[in-house]
Amino acid sequence: MKILFIGDVVGSLGREMVEEYLPQLKEKYKPDCTIVNGENAASGRGITEKIYRQLEGAGADAITMGNHTWDNRELFQFIDQTQNIIRPANYPKGAPGKGIQMIQAGSSEVAVINALGRTFMNPVDDPFPVVKKLVDDAKRHTPFVFVDFHAEATSEKQAMGWHLDGKASAVVGTHTHVQTADNRILPGGTAYLSDVGMTGPYDAVLGMEREAVLKRFVTSLPVRFEVPKSGRTLLSGCIIELERKTGRALSINRILINEDRPFVSN
Ligand code: FE2
Repeated sequence: MKILFIGDVVGSLGREMVEEYLPQLKEKYKPDCTIVNGENAASGRGITEKIYRQLEGAGADAITMGNHTWDNRELFQFIDQTQNIIRPANYPKGAPGKGIQMIQAGSSEVAVINALGRTFMNPVDDPFPVVKKLVDDAKRHTPFVFVDFHAEATSEKQAMGWHLDGKASAVVGTHTHVQTADNRILPGGTAYLSDVGMTGPYDAVLGMEREAVLKRFVTSLPVRFEVPKSGRTLLSGCIIELERKTGRALSINRILINEDRPFVSN
């Protein structure tokens, strides 16, 4: 069982990268299931129905979200009509959508879970018991359980990795937009990566126009951040291989595509 995960798609440049490279990545790695984090896909803020269809059309089997889930209000209108958008599971009760979904992957199913961290982030419910319960429940149906943990602090992400080691097949972080180089398989058999990185503008600051971000840092004045619509781009992801019988991770390799590193996987 192979799972391809593409990190935080930012704006139109990010979507174009997915459209251009996802077919090539599928050809190269032959994943059974492709998951894309789409919480920044609409100009850095949330997702629209049109963009959801665009990512699906490009080859995404599931779309995970994060702290920007509700930034584009359009999602309220259609999230409950979709089967494969997974928003953070630790939003308070009553939030639309769902935090786990079984995604068909050939003759098997992959349970895809999304959750938000709380360190240096807006308050939400404690993700640790919420995700643990979802993983335990999912394991009764499938050995393949993928967790996108959308969090700021590497400490919280590592803690979640250890919390789910031997239970989830993979715990992969998103949100910081910078790929970390700590891909590993934890002793219990869980693939782990602190952050998969982002997909979109390359010569920017976390996907936002660098001039505006610089101005904020240099002057401390309020500045509105926008996503560049042109310029160089990158794609970040990872490919995870799981043992068919047990769902234990066999490998997790990073994917990083930009002009400095054309099509690197390691
Ligand atoms: Fe985020």
